[in-house]
Amino acid sequence: MFDIAIDKDQPAAEFYADLTSSAAAIVSGEPDAIANMANVAALIWQYVPDLNWAGFYRVVDGELLLGPFQGKVACIRIAIGSGVCGTAAASGLAQRVADVDAFPGHIACDAESRSELVIPIVKNGSVIAVLDLDSPLPNRFDADDETGMVKLIGAIANSLG
Ligand code: SME
Repeated sequence: MFDIAIDKDQPAAEFYADLTSSAAAIVSGEPDAIANMANVAALIWQYVPDLNWAGFYRVVDGELLLGPFQGKVACIRIAIGSGVCGTAAASGLAQRVADVDAFPGHIACDAESRSELVIPIVKNGSVIAVLDLDSPLPNRFDADDETGMVKLIGAIANSLG
């Protein structure tokens, strides 16, 4: 069993440092990427406030395929280049969307989602998956959330594929 305690109310830099340490601890020594994605999705879901979906899409046979997540039943396959996730996968750049209704091609899996943060996961120079976070609040994610999540994913990317 993992003994995880993260203060949700501390400043963003400290919060994300703690979240990253915990993520690194739970994937440590485990080679299975799916198991690691499942636990990281659960960790984020438990500690990051105001989310209605948190999880992964993996690049499989040239498209994004639903991976481990927490939240409502979701779209299974997304073309690279489509929607927020597909744009992150195609560009290799994090996508921070304050208003999903204003994002061309946004794919609504849960009608409650208002804002979204997607982080591409790069291994050996290629995007192998994305982390997708949705919130029912408009403009939920700020630059600190993006920086923190990019660092978290960078720290554990080798354990996610
Ligand atoms: N909204 C995403 C699709 C994935 S679901 O939100 C879980 C997108 O536009 O890529």
